[in-house]
Amino acid sequence: MVAWLEASITDDADKTRNFHPIFFLKLPYLLHLAGLPKKTQTYLFFQIHANNVDAFRTHLAQLVPHITTIAQVKADLDQIAKNKQSGDNQLLKLSGINIAFSQKGLTLLGITDAIGDDVFKAGMLADAKNLGDKNKNSSGTFAPDWDPAFLEDIHGLILVSGDSHTTVSKQINHIEHLFRMNGKNASIHKVISIVGDVRPGEEKGHEHFGFLDGISQPTLDGLTEFEPFPNGEKVPTIAQGVTLVGRPGDKVTNRPSWALDGSFLSFRYLFQLVPEFNSFLQANPIPGMPAAEGSELLGARLVGRWKSGAPVDLAPLKDNPTLGADTQERNDFRYTADNNDQQTQDRCPFAAHTRKTNPRADLEDHGIPTDPQRIIRRGIQFGPEVSAGEAASGKTAQGRGLLFACYQSNIANGFQFIQTKWANNVNFPPFKTAVAAPGFDPIIGQENNDNSLRTMEGTNPASQGTALSLSAEWVVPKGGEYFFSPSISALKGTF
Ligand code: HEM
Repeated sequence: MVAWLEASITDDADKTRNFHPIFFLKLPYLLHLAGLPKKTQTYLFFQIHANNVDAFRTHLAQLVPHITTIAQVKADLDQIAKNKQSGDNQLLKLSGINIAFSQKGLTLLGITDAIGDDVFKAGMLADAKNLGDKNKNSSGTFAPDWDPAFLEDIHGLILVSGDSHTTVSKQINHIEHLFRMNGKNASIHKVISIVGDVRPGEEKGHEHFGFLDGISQPTLDGLTEFEPFPNGEKVPTIAQGVTLVGRPGDKVTNRPSWALDGSFLSFRYLFQLVPEFNSFLQANPIPGMPAAEGSELLGARLVGRWKSGAPVDLAPLKDNPTLGADTQERNDFRYTADNNDQQTQDRCPFAAHTRKTNPRADLEDHGIPTDPQRIIRRGIQFGPEVSAGEAASGKTAQGRGLLFACYQSNIANGFQFIQTKWANNVNFPPFKTAVAAPGFDPIIGQENNDNSLRTMEGTNPASQGTALSLSAEWVVPKGGEYFFSPSISALKGTF
């Protein structure tokens, strides 16, 4: 039986199809890709009651049959299509449930054999300093400036996605009932629950800064059981083991058998300072063009894509929404469009977010594979749209951002590597001519307590050696945790 792990924000990103090519599913022995058009998602972070672990196991066994299967998602989508054809507006209610555990959760359950991922084992709180998160203490011991909930022990995460708040609420009520959360025999309690929502109207599929997101996911080699690419999208294929524990390509050996076909989930609670980001673009337009266009170009050169999704490597001066919507072409680039395939930043700064996080030819053309660093990104926006008052003042008054979630078979090679070795590393990428230091990834690059270091080169194509001071961070981490999402057979057998 094939189980659905969770749907991507990008189900909604791409209005040209019913489901996105990259949906991450799990089977008893095999995780797979498929999708569900979600609109909202609740992240329920929980603690297991240490004195009621046996009850937790019983309750978990009752949850497992509700973990949505791929067959169910597919059947539901087919039924919806049929209903639409026959003019039946009574659409099925789509939802999906899954569960993942932190090392602390596994330990409480008595699952203590080495899973083969030390970063997971230590947890994200222990990694916060290394990730570049800010220190709450002005001096002395490091304590990340996080939401207090993420400073508590978090044992697990239940993820519920659906097509509406009503659908998700019903599922949450059911889960609360299964784990007796409101009664005497409760086996878990909520540490924090966060609701993510796809943005409304035309912004559907766009993250809060306004850029189309989730459109450059790799797919897993050989997983053809569920057709992932209805439109024949050109995306890179990576070995299954980059995402799935124990599959071909997983570099870690001697994993315990219960971990096979599971995947590590890195969750980050990322706030975005949207009015401040927009004010920065307005204040620093690329010279030599009308100010509004110059600001728009600066935004595109910070991200590596225009708001439409068109990559600046293929559309260097002006947005090209047709290209942004073209699932065939929008991923067909390697940052080598100029200069006889030499890596320059004429079209895209080396430090641009997409180039830092997936450098393509910048490494591959020098014999360094990038596949081990690929992650499958999942996430959804949270918080309200920017109000007129916030837009006018240029100051954030209400919290909003991204519930960032990504999957990999090894966190040190995946999320942690991208954040620390690439995004925060001012000298990355290493091979480039006439560039002193590319600088920080302007979207997620960070350095504990010194924002003055946040600069990048190459934003102005006509003066590439000039470093732009990015100043304050526009993405502020407020928590997170590393989780392991087991296969269904493991949930049935080991937990
Ligand atoms: C791509 C925004 C956080 C890794 C993108 C894209 C956007 C974006 C607009 C381009 C769309 C796409 O290629 O699918 C953001 C925002 C973030 C954020 C606003 C924070 C609020 C992160 C983090 C990581 C990350 C924390 C990992 C450490 C990536 C990767 C890509 C990407 C790997 C794909 C690049 C490619 O394959 O070309 N992001 N992102 N992002 N992002 Fe982020």
